[in-house]
Amino acid sequence: MVVKNICCIGAGYVGGPTMAVIAYKCPGIKVTVVDVNEARVKSWNDKDVSNIPIYEPGLEDIIAEVRGRNLFFSTDVEKAIDEAEMIFISVNTPTKTYGLGKGKAADLKYIELCARQIASVAKTDKIVVEKSTLPVRTAEAIKSILDNTGNGVKFQILSNPEFLAEGTAVQDLLNPDRVLIGGGNDEGGTIAINALADVYASWVDRHKILTTNVWSSELSKLTANAFLAQRVSSINAMSELCEKTGADVNEVAMAIGMDSRIGSKFLKASVGFGGSCFQKDILNLVYIAKSYGLNEVADYWEQVVIMNDHQKRRFASNIIKTLYNTVSGKKIVFLGWAFKKDTNDTRESAAIYVADDLLNEQANIAVYDPKVSEPKILNDLDYLGTRSETENRKGVEVYSDPYEACKDAYAIAVLTEWDEFKSYDWGKIYKNMRKPAFVFDGRNILDGEMLKSIGFVFQSIGK
Ligand code: NAD
Ligand code: UDX
Repeated sequence: MVVKNICCIGAGYVGGPTMAVIAYKCPGIKVTVVDVNEARVKSWNDKDVSNIPIYEPGLEDIIAEVRGRNLFFSTDVEKAIDEAEMIFISVNTPTKTYGLGKGKAADLKYIELCARQIASVAKTDKIVVEKSTLPVRTAEAIKSILDNTGNGVKFQILSNPEFLAEGTAVQDLLNPDRVLIGGGNDEGGTIAINALADVYASWVDRHKILTTNVWSSELSKLTANAFLAQRVSSINAMSELCEKTGADVNEVAMAIGMDSRIGSKFLKASVGFGGSCFQKDILNLVYIAKSYGLNEVADYWEQVVIMNDHQKRRFASNIIKTLYNTVSGKKIVFLGWAFKKDTNDTRESAAIYVADDLLNEQANIAVYDPKVSEPKILNDLDYLGTRSETENRKGVEVYSDPYEACKDAYAIAVLTEWDEFKSYDWGKIYKNMRKPAFVFDGRNILDGEMLKSIGFVFQSIGK
């Protein structure tokens, strides 16, 4: 079977870049990305390509080339479903905030809505691809909805989890370590798997396209994120011990990373991992393990999140302690708000939680981030619900110039590892700050010796 029309439901951080790359590499396939969020679709269609809603290095160039050629963004979900032979579901699957499994289980209401809509619209056989990260055995629920509410047409469900990381999404999509496709081993399943594998084979080596059963594929995605996050929490746990013992966490990371069995990636100590995936997916794993009565398995993985919360809280309390146990009325600058560099995504960013702790101590927070807008920053704090919108606006000021942000500040905290922070004129910044001037490097990116020679009191993670 040759796929000519693809529909993707969900024009977010995964749907947008993934479909852009498929369209780029498969000019013979018409790809339509649909979303219920009109404002988001409007931004994707903005004539000025720099206004697309997601910042990812390299994405604008690809969008400029393929948008209107064989990539389309639309709010007409039904039309796109009707026309496609293959439908990717790429909607959000956040942690449930209500009812059974609140705070841990994945909220599958958007997935169910998609399944119901596909079933009601489809007049021809469709391959439905789970691109969203889903609890193991979700395909069973999707199949049941499709088969029981559909118009008698045949559906094949595939699991094709996405492994891209934000900030490097385009490169990850162009050169994936692997593409994982889970599907049934009957004739229909095999045809569907091959159809999707052929799409990827336009640019990915066949030996990197791995096919498994659906449940292995679904569970592999949660497992991959749990393992990656576990490495960050492990090195962060060691960072606290380093601070007590005189060891240097960067040196420890280098020493263990050279062991080829351990490897050097994902060993950067930090203020804590953020992003929309790690915490959500581990909590989901914890919930699934508990639901099977596997309490030790659940506790083991939950500790990764507990350690991460501790690391964020520890960073904030260290700032308070160092600033003579009071930050009330003191201007503290946040360099960076995004959860990592090269993205405008702030979901679960450590910055939000550190700011929240400092605002509780009545600090004045000044934020500068090269890609995150003021409304987003304030909205992140409002969403936490700790204090009123008025109080958040009173406590937080957002700057578009880092030098202005640092004027009259008592301390600077580096929350995101944006490259530009390293090349600032730190002498100029120092001159305009209150003394003693403190820098708390939550990402271990600045040259501490240089800053100390200027006069700063410098602290970083794990030293
Ligand atoms: P997102 O919130 O950026 O985008 C999801 C989009 O789906 C939103 O724009 C929303 O309006 C839309 N949507 C929701 N329900 C809809 C419906 N019924 N019809 C049409 N549109 C609908 O989310 P994301 O970051 O792209 O993540 C999507 C999925 O991919 C999640 O399951 C996530 O866990 C997974 N994932 C994310 C990443 C990542 O780095 N962000 C990486 C791998 C996997
Ligand atoms: C992650 C997975 O890497 C990706 O494969 C999956 O598809 C989605 O979830 P993402 O959350 O976009 O990707 O970014 P990632 O690079 O994994 O970083 C997550 C968080 O961990 C960031 O806050 C980052 O700063 C932090 N991190 C990462 C560290 O603190 N130290 C490290 O060594 C690596």
